Amino acid sequence: MEIKEKLNRAIKEALSKLSFSVPLVELEHPQDPSHGDYATNVALVLAQKIGKDPMEVAQDIKNTLEYEQLNELIAKIDIVRPGFINFWLSKDEFSRQLTEAIKMGEGYGKSDDGKGKTIVAEYSSPNIAKRFGIGHLRSTIIGHALYNLYKFLGYEVISENHLGDWGTQFGAIISEIKKSKIKNQNDISKLKNVTLGELEEMYVRFNREAHNKPELWDEARAWFKKLEDGDREAREIWKACVKVSIAEFERIYALLDVSFDNMHGESFYEDKMSEVIEDAKKKKLAVEDEGAFIMRVPNIKVPLILLKSDGATTYETRDLAAIKWRMREWQPEKILYEVGAEQDLHFRLVFAAAELLGYARLTHFVHIKHGLYRFAEGKMSTRAGRTVNLEDILQEAVVRAEKILEQSKTLSAKLSKKEKSTISHAVGIGAVKYFDLLHHPGSEIVFSWEKMFLLTGNSAPYLQYTHARARSVLRKSSLTLAGPAPLHPTPTSSLDAAGARVGAPRVSPASHLAAEELSLLRTFYKFPEVVQEAASQYTPNLLCNFLYDLASKYNLMYNNLPILEPEEAISEKREEIRNLRLALTAVTANILKTGLNLLGIQTPERM
Ligand code: ARG
Repeated sequence: MEIKEKLNRAIKEALSKLSFSVPLVELEHPQDPSHGDYATNVALVLAQKIGKDPMEVAQDIKNTLEYEQLNELIAKIDIVRPGFINFWLSKDEFSRQLTEAIKMGEGYGKSDDGKGKTIVAEYSSPNIAKRFGIGHLRSTIIGHALYNLYKFLGYEVISENHLGDWGTQFGAIISEIKKSKIKNQNDISKLKNVTLGELEEMYVRFNREAHNKPELWDEARAWFKKLEDGDREAREIWKACVKVSIAEFERIYALLDVSFDNMHGESFYEDKMSEVIEDAKKKKLAVEDEGAFIMRVPNIKVPLILLKSDGATTYETRDLAAIKWRMREWQPEKILYEVGAEQDLHFRLVFAAAELLGYARLTHFVHIKHGLYRFAEGKMSTRAGRTVNLEDILQEAVVRAEKILEQSKTLSAKLSKKEKSTISHAVGIGAVKYFDLLHHPGSEIVFSWEKMFLLTGNSAPYLQYTHARARSVLRKSSLTLAGPAPLHPTPTSSLDAAGARVGAPRVSPASHLAAEELSLLRTFYKFPEVVQEAASQYTPNLLCNFLYDLASKYNLMYNNLPILEPEEAISEKREEIRNLRLALTAVTANILKTGLNLLGIQTPERM
């Protein structure tokens, strides 16, 4: 952020000297690199406000900008029609950034902006007794990436898995279990052999039957009421279901390399819900309505049901209890909910109610609404009984990665069985995760194996491959890469010979850079900015696109310019060029690694 901030400040100072005021100065990276490194439309915005020619306003701003202050940062400023101001960073600045990136190694882009601030990130949250759905996969992948991003920015982040382990659906399952298998208390132990698939089938069967016989829901509700009232049999059956489900979820989390700080399921709030009801009563926010307790919130027609007419609690009540508890426990600055867009109304109701109850402000909440996955056949749903088994998908991804690895006979021959399996896992799971993250969380995804495994396109395998390629160049260069700094020149190394200890070779402004080299230098410094933006806008897709851009630019250099043995007649110059290209390689490798890891994707050394 540093460069952007400096520039921003300088522009604001110039504006105030000119007695102009705007609430926000937008600085962007022009799409077309021939328009410079940053551009602002501030002159256009101002000109419209004051009725002047935007080109003139831009010229005034340019003339007023403190050149001295910007001297080191900026090489030139252009004014272009209809009134944009374009900034070109100086080679000195690129050199500084390169040095910084080398020095920081894999920590480049890290910040302590979030120091002292806490964020609760809730994601995954599957439902007990149902298989882990693909929607929960999205939640897990996006939520985990955001968790990593905020940590990287210095926040204290607490991840919560709000398991759906309470609610009327358990009534349905219990009544179904009672019908099929469990005739008496002794049968409950048999439940430990039941699979999640079977439990889910029971739920599907129940729904199918209840479609024609709605009175079955009364039975289900009665069982849930019993569960809430602490009926021993209901509790035992429920506990067995929870155990079976969690064991299966843990297997998926292990496959996905995801873990949680807390797994407080909805049942955790069982004894915390009466407080919510009390609060609502005390504040006169709850009213009785046909035996139920409801709460109305501004601007939403439907009420929030706190207690059903049979006295059973609701999904909403549990969310309110969770908010009260989390706010008291951690005083977070924000609570993020990575949950499907179809729950929009639910969260709007809950957030508004939480504010009325005085638990938190609306600004504390963010519902990151993800879109659906679509398969060729259309939307999948458990209720309809047609499901795509997530574990099958993950396993198939790993098999596809294995096949790709086998295609490279030379590499495959060099690797041990264990190495191969680690790499296939990283590539297969990485492909699934990246494909998801590449989409804006709000957009729908059309599932495509081809796109996930694009070897020359915007996919995890392509980025992982580029990372491995860069690492391989560095290995061949005799630079040791272990330790905190990415470049530890060994005594014989070229960097040492060039007089640079741990640090980047200076790119002297005079030295002529190849287009491929310059384009990498013009990319690196954006990484810290992108990380910030991806976090603050809850859009990991920004980071994906940045990494793809970086990898493409690196491959251009790799393909067009010899890195280890530059074609340069003068040996001193040759050394300098080699060092520069190696430094560019090291920074690319580090950013790809850090970036992919932030997305929850592993980066094998070899591929
Ligand atoms: N278990 C819910 C479902 O699968 C998602 C939970 C979302 N989180 C929440 N705090 N309500 O639909």
